[in-house]
Amino acid sequence: MTLGDSRPRLLHDKVCLITGAGAGIGAAVARRFSAEGAVLWLNDIDGDALAIVVEETGGTGMAGDASDPKFVATWVNEAARAHGRIDVLYNNVGVSRPGRIGDITEAEWRLQQRTTLDTCFFATSAVIPHMLANGGGSIVSMSSGAGIGGQYGLGAYAAAKAGVISLMETVATEYGDEGIRANSVTPGPTATAPLLAYLDQQPGGTDAHTADLKLARLTQPAEVAATVTWLASDEASSISGICLQSNTRMASRRPPHDQR
Ligand SMILES: NC(=O)c1ccc[n+]([C@@H]2O[C@H](COP(=O)([O-])OP(=O)(O)OC[C@H]3O[C@@H](n4cnc5c(N)ncnc54)[C@H](O)[C@@H]3O)[C@@H](O)[C@H]2O)c1
Repeated sequence: MTLGDSRPRLLHDKVCLITGAGAGIGAAVARRFSAEGAVLWLNDIDGDALAIVVEETGGTGMAGDASDPKFVATWVNEAARAHGRIDVLYNNVGVSRPGRIGDITEAEWRLQQRTTLDTCFFATSAVIPHMLANGGGSIVSMSSGAGIGGQYGLGAYAAAKAGVISLMETVATEYGDEGIRANSVTPGPTATAPLLAYLDQQPGGTDAHTADLKLARLTQPAEVAATVTWLASDEASSISGICLQSNTRMASRRPPHDQR
């Protein structure tokens, strides 16, 4: 990505933590944060994937499970010890498994709450004391269109993503007067490996899946990264407690009689 040379970098010297930075949207956010001058502290459960992004971005990586609170506490505290502060947390990890509510097992339910919502709580609660000690910070968490209004066949994931939005709203309410902003994003279906693999197997493929999106196409990971970067940065200094929705599904389609 080419950035204007004269433009101030949005995250210059900000200490930024990202969970699940080894692939897809998390990796795209790591690259954009790096281009914006961030000091990166990255995590992924897949050590090999993480190593590639660490190499590319010049960040520090710690492989581990973001749904393990002990690991997350170590990951966060080490960042604060190494750099003296934490400015930004981006909670990226989330896992979805198909199945209607009457069919999924408790184990499948728990897996999705643990990886999608608990991860967000563990990292958020761990960074708060460090952000307070430093006069504030910015937390951005990945939700999903599924978290607003539910989603057929993805109910456990949808419930967890609704929880992510609510968690960020509450953090915004509880810590705004102490300088911490907290927001979430719902980017619409985004062209990462798991979604592309899923769409390949669907009748009609990507076209059938994107026809009722506002932009009638998939969102690109770099576009999500731009949104997350803006929310994380001081450019969004008055924005807290929102869920920024982009390229979600339309409530209505163009009526057949409208031929424009
Ligand atoms: N792709 C989409 O269409 C889309 C749309 C809306 C929201 N999201 C959300 O965006 C986020 C990223 O999705 P993606 O499509 O980039 O997925 P991805 O599979 O490409 O990347 C996810 C990364 O998270 C890592 N990860 C998984 N579990 C982990 C754990 N317990 N601890 C640490 N790292 C872990 C994986 O190893 C991987 O590198 C997820 O929260 C997902 O729910 C995706």
